[in-house]
Amino acid sequence: MHIPEDVLQAVKDAANIRQVVSEYVPLKKRGRNWVGLCPFHPDKDPSFSVNEDKQIFYCFGCGEGGNAIKFLMKMQGLSFVEAVKALAGRYGITIPERPVSAARKKKLALDEELIRINEEAADFFHANLLDLRTAQPARDYLADRGMTQELIERFRLGWAMEGWDSLLNHLQKKNIPAALAEKAGLALARRGGKGHYDRFRGRIMFPIRDWEGRTVAFGGRILPGRDSHEQPKYINSPETPVYNKRRVLYGLYQNKSVIRKAGFGIVVEGYMDLLALVQAGVGNVAATLGTALTEQHVNFLKRVCNDWVVVFDGDAAGQKAAVRALPLFYGRGLNVKVFSLPPDDDPDTFIRREGKDAWEKEIQNLPSGLDFVIDRGIALYGTDPEGKYRTVEDALSLIADIEDSVKKSLLASRIAQKTGVREDSLWERITRHRPGRARRNKNSDGNQQESPAEAAHDAPNINSADAKLLGFLLAHPAFMEEFADCGMELWLENAHMQSLWNAMLNLYRQTSRIDMASLSEALENLPSLRALAMRLSAAFPPGENPRELCTCLKSYCESRKKKALRLQVLEELKAEGGTQGAENLLKKFQHLL
Ligand code: UTP
Ligand code: MN
Repeated sequence: MHIPEDVLQAVKDAANIRQVVSEYVPLKKRGRNWVGLCPFHPDKDPSFSVNEDKQIFYCFGCGEGGNAIKFLMKMQGLSFVEAVKALAGRYGITIPERPVSAARKKKLALDEELIRINEEAADFFHANLLDLRTAQPARDYLADRGMTQELIERFRLGWAMEGWDSLLNHLQKKNIPAALAEKAGLALARRGGKGHYDRFRGRIMFPIRDWEGRTVAFGGRILPGRDSHEQPKYINSPETPVYNKRRVLYGLYQNKSVIRKAGFGIVVEGYMDLLALVQAGVGNVAATLGTALTEQHVNFLKRVCNDWVVVFDGDAAGQKAAVRALPLFYGRGLNVKVFSLPPDDDPDTFIRREGKDAWEKEIQNLPSGLDFVIDRGIALYGTDPEGKYRTVEDALSLIADIEDSVKKSLLASRIAQKTGVREDSLWERITRHRPGRARRNKNSDGNQQESPAEAAHDAPNINSADAKLLGFLLAHPAFMEEFADCGMELWLENAHMQSLWNAMLNLYRQTSRIDMASLSEALENLPSLRALAMRLSAAFPPGENPRELCTCLKSYCESRKKKALRLQVLEELKAEGGTQGAENLLKKFQHLL
């Protein structure tokens, strides 16, 4: 949905950041600001501050900040449009509805109907579990597995009776036709075409809710001792117009606020794993339900928080699943750790046997996804060149899609450090991983030019103008401000220098100064960058007349920035294709560079 510019402006004008924040965070006036405990990270001293004049919030602890819309997005895990809508509602601003097509209207009406049926079924199953005498074995089974009444109610667990049509009969009383129950995935058509029967029979029922809390599907577990006629242990609703299993995580809706509060979330595989963890007091969990984790799943996880733990079985299959899932996290800029369980355990058996404290102790000491992949590679493939090569391959595939150059660089050093492969050669591989980029740089004469990416990964040249520039700023950080906008990330020739610049800029933005001690602390896990910073600051000590040098360097930056922008325009023009006339113009333009 698109929000018209004037409406967006009206929402921004109307929304008062202090009011919006106050609903979640008690604020106290301090000077010109309002302060409170940050809701986005564990905070003991109030480091969260709201400025009413500027209509922004900022946390000095975790660096989170923005306007009222951003706050709601983070706080409630909303998309931009959802947050604007919520604010519009609160401040009585109407967002003009776009005309909805007839087909769309029909789809929305059907969706609504299917949800209503699912809700009806969930109530029915739940009441049956609580009340029916014949549900005693189910109640016993759940009690046996440590599930309390409270948990059963919170997750609205249920019981589907043994018969063939108890749900269908119930729905019929509510005037819901069998054909619709079939569309909702709750009933199946009899072979031969006459009539329907219940899909879920004699099973403990787990309603599955989507991001907004709508009941979109069910899982059903058979009771032990009854799986004799080769029935699967669990069956799930099929895909329906309202249920796409690649998009829905079990328990995420119920647990998202706990996850946010904990600062990290845990992904497990099964219904019972999730419930056992919640029961044991580990509430920051979501479950994938036996399907492999997808990109869409991870997009939803990212809406809740940036730090995740994935739990896998300790066996080979579990490890393989981990290796496949991890790139999704790294590619979306999330931090991920791996909890590899002992053989024969799942989270449910582990926490019930070992207890919450043991679980949390394990959680404290998990390897990052990257370390996990490297350690597993070394154990699995060995340390001969062939084996190391495979390990490096696995590790590189994790970081291939990371956009943040500092993070990528950090992780590349980590791979180098752990495998003993030189970082430069890794960088060659990283750039080659993405052939799309290098290709584009073929110029119109067909000559292969060195791509920026390739040039970027030469060892940094300490005598270059770029080196001088960074060296100058390290020696005279007071000038940082004047260089903050000159787009160095666009044109610094060397990736290490780019990363160093990013790190300097981040540090400067956070602390308003740069000294070698805090810079080397910031680069703790990045020895090659730290070494570069040391070399630069040794080579370029503070000078006599920094203002003069600053002026020179600024005009250097200006010309580099312009060139980089021209090149960008050129690239864009080239990408557009262009007619012959445009081609010729382009050639002329290229001569001017
Ligand atoms: P598991 O076989 O590991 O079961 O499947 P579990 O979660 O440990 O179940 P309990 O402890 O025996 O009750 C993990 C997940 O895979 C899906 C379910 O979502 C299950 O939670 N699954 C499993 C199915 O969809 N169908 C099956 O037949 C089995
Ligand atoms: Mn289990």
